[in-house]
Amino acid sequence: MKFFDNMKSQYLLTGGYMLKCGIIGLGRIGSLLEDDTRREKPASHAGVIDSHPECELRAGCDIDGEKNNAFKIRWNCSNTYSDYDLMLKNEKLNIVAIATPPETHLEICRSAVKYNVDVIVLEKPVAHSIDQANEIADLVSASNSKVIINHERRYSLQYRNCKKIIDDKLYGDLVSIKSTLYMGRNRELASMLYDDGTHMIDLIHYLSGSRMQIMSVSCDTNKKQFYCTGTVNNTMFCFEAGSRRDHLVFEIDLSFENGRITVGNGYYHEFNSIVSPFYDNYKSLQMLDVKFPQSKYFSEMFKDAVRCAKNRNAVPVSTVKNGVEAITVIEQMIKFLLK
Ligand SMILES: NC(=O)c1ccc[n+]([C@@H]2O[C@H](COP(=O)([O-])OP(=O)(O)OC[C@H]3O[C@@H](n4cnc5c(N)ncnc54)[C@H](O)[C@@H]3O)[C@@H](O)[C@H]2O)c1
Repeated sequence: MKFFDNMKSQYLLTGGYMLKCGIIGLGRIGSLLEDDTRREKPASHAGVIDSHPECELRAGCDIDGEKNNAFKIRWNCSNTYSDYDLMLKNEKLNIVAIATPPETHLEICRSAVKYNVDVIVLEKPVAHSIDQANEIADLVSASNSKVIINHERRYSLQYRNCKKIIDDKLYGDLVSIKSTLYMGRNRELASMLYDDGTHMIDLIHYLSGSRMQIMSVSCDTNKKQFYCTGTVNNTMFCFEAGSRRDHLVFEIDLSFENGRITVGNGYYHEFNSIVSPFYDNYKSLQMLDVKFPQSKYFSEMFKDAVRCAKNRNAVPVSTVKNGVEAITVIEQMIKFLLK
């Protein structure tokens, strides 16, 4: 028996019931990233479940015994398994997070659906091929389970603010989107697109409300630097990805008729256009003082999972269909690269 903290005990005292939650895959995003001293918290599935007043971290599962042991100690949860099917059968979970490599997602989803888990929080990318992603979508749509894909930027306060500005036309029409993805020195393009590009593509889909239509893809002979252009909801986009840098960049630059927003990991810059202080008869951009001390990306995602577990009719903000659309675009990009 686990003793609950004050928040959880208060919730129980007011007659609330705890949602039973489990995690499959107790590696970085499952648990370990919580101890990254610089990351915004919660930063892992274990962290977000542990901190939610209406949820109980009931069990964890990993094929690696060391991960199970570390999880037991870190989260004071002695209930671990090496077989996810057994865990799902025994624990009758309301919410399960699948935080294993993409090639395992289909089989684990099959099992979660078989045991009627209410909400499956599935890590991105949905799968490592479009065929498997479609299989997951089909099996979920024929079940009572809902799936939330952890394309977490859909939930972050910065990007939600961008979406509202676009939808409300605060700065007029969105004219163009530039997005940049640099993921260190040595990443292969295809793996970068699957691992990180899926976040960018899904974000562009989320913000524009439409699927990217690719017009061109070009890359250098070493396939280290890549540009993709096209349209999304009648807005032109340019998506750049590459390696050979010693740093990470995930940035989207939204250019409006009379404003601009540049947003990336850890920063948000919003500009409106004003009479230019530099030139007669022109306008220039001025940066506004808009700050988001926290993005709440993980806690807002998990709030959606709890909402969906409690309400049969609720539709997730990040659906399996959205996840499949991201994979579809990635596969189109890779086809261009292979030509
Ligand atoms: N949303 C994000 O920002 C984000 C960040 C990191 C990783 N991810 C995604 O999360 C997933 C896991 O990535 P990670 O970096 O945590 O990897 P990881 O290697 O650190 O952890 C994966 C864990 O899954 C375990 N595992 C593998 N097969 C299993 C099985 N059949 N049953 C039980 N456990 C199994 C491994 O032993 C390992 O401990 C990937 O899909 C990755 O793309 C998402």
